[in-house]
Formats: sequence, C-alpha cells, structure tokens
Amino acid sequence: MTTQRFDWVGTIVKPAVFTAALVPLAALAWNFFHDRLSANPIADITNATGIWTLRFLVITLAITPARKLAKLSWLSRFRRMTGVFAFFYAALHFTTYIWLDKFFEWQEMFDDVAKRKFIAIGFASFVLLIPLALTSFNKAQKWLGGKRWNALHRLTYLIGIGGVVHFIWRVKADLREPTIYAVVVGVLLLLRLWWLIAQTRWFSHAGQRKPLQSSQTSPSASQSFSNPVVRL
Ligand code: HEM
Repeated sequence: MTTQRFDWVGTIVKPAVFTAALVPLAALAWNFFHDRLSANPIADITNATGIWTLRFLVITLAITPARKLAKLSWLSRFRRMTGVFAFFYAALHFTTYIWLDKFFEWQEMFDDVAKRKFIAIGFASFVLLIPLALTSFNKAQKWLGGKRWNALHRLTYLIGIGGVVHFIWRVKADLREPTIYAVVVGVLLLLRLWWLIAQTRWFSHAGQRKPLQSSQTSPSASQSFSNPVVRL
C-alpha cells in the first residue's frame, strides 16, 4: 500500500500566503470606511497600492535566489501567486490614478505621462506587467513553450528597475525608503548576473572537455549534480 505524503505547502501555506496578501487591501478598505485616511485619501490609496506593487515585485524577484541559497525548492510554488499579486496591486494603483485622481480625463492623463517622467516610467512598468499577467496560466505556459515563457517573464527584472526608478523620481527629497528598495532589487539582479556568468563559464569549460563516449550519451549522476544550470 502506498501512503501519500500530506502536502503542507499546497494545503496550508499557500492559502495562508494568499490570505496574507489580501491584508493590505483589507487594511486600506477598513481605514477608508472608518475615516482613518489622511486629508488626501486619494494620495493615501495611490501610495499604499503603489508600495504594495513594489513589495510584491521584490518578493517575486527574491524567490529564486532564496530558493537556491536556502535550498528550499518549494518556494518556487509561490512565484506565480506573488507575481499575480504584484499585478493585482498595480491594477488597483493604476485604477486609482485614472478613476479617482484623473476622473477618466484622458487628455490630462496623456499630458501627465508626457510631462512627468515618474508617471511615464510607472506607466511603462505597468504595461510590461500586462503580458506577464496574461501568460501566468499553465495553458499559456504550454502554448508559449518553456523557453519563450521564461524569456518573456524575465521582463520582471525590467519592471523591478522601472518600479524603483518610479519611486525615486516620485519622492524627490527623502530618498531613504526608495534607496532601500533600489539596493534590494540591485542585489537580487546582481545575483542573477553572477549565476549567469558562472553558468556560461561552466558551459564553455565543459565544451573544452573530451566528448562523452558513445556508451555514455547521458551525463552521469555526479555530472548532472555538479551542473550549475540555473533558472534565473
Ligand atoms: C509596476 C508599476 C508601478 C509601481 C511598482 C509603482 C509604485 C509606486 C510607489 C512605490 C509609489 C510611492 C508610494 C509611497 O510614497 O509610499 C507610487 C506612487 C505613485 N504612483 Fe506608482 N507605481 C507603478 C505604476 C504606476 C502607474 C501606471 C501610475 C499612473 C499612470 C502611477 C502613478 C503614481 C502616482 C500618481 C503616485 C503618487 C501618489 C501621490 O503622491 O499622491 N504608478 N507608485
């Protein structure tokens, strides 16, 4: 008789993380309906949804490095969820801007994008998030094929940089908070660059080695173990 192991991550941790990801929205709604926002509630809502977009982007970018460094393979099961939450908060952020801030005055919005560079880069980052959200489903992944899907989803790096620059340009004076995000995103991207260089060097090194004997067409267990191929 085979005994199936209980899937803690899928049954307990995933629903808990999902619920936790909705807490910032619930807190915002609570504060709004209980008159606990400042004299400028629209700015409060824009700022809260903006900062949570950036936080979820950072969490998504941190999953692969954390998984590799701490050897916690199950962490990758959260990447899609955190990425979709980044899009969810970005959509709320954008909706607050076009609806509550600009009242769907399209001309005013176009002028804003053209005149204020922090709006332009925020807008560009949001546009880049859309194809990632649309292809976050298993079917889309199958349809695109693993290689193309991975290449498309590397846009997350650009969106992370765009989000940080948007924050820096928006803040102007007190740069302490955006600097923290810039450093974290910088470290997460540099780690990937480091692994990419290590992987490229490993391949060029392996290419110089003697080719495998015909009886050894697939790499041995020890070879595949030492192969540093990484999912960046
Ligand atoms: C990936 C996309 C985006 C990210 C990560 C992001 C992030 C942020 C962050 C972190 C803030 C500052 C929060 C704070 O000071 O606590 C902010 C503010 C702001 N964002 Fe975005 N944003 C994005 C897209 C957009 C878009 C598309 C627009 C509009 C077209 C926009 C408009 C604004 C505005 C107007 C503010 C300032 C609100 C105020 O001071 O009243 N953002 N955003």
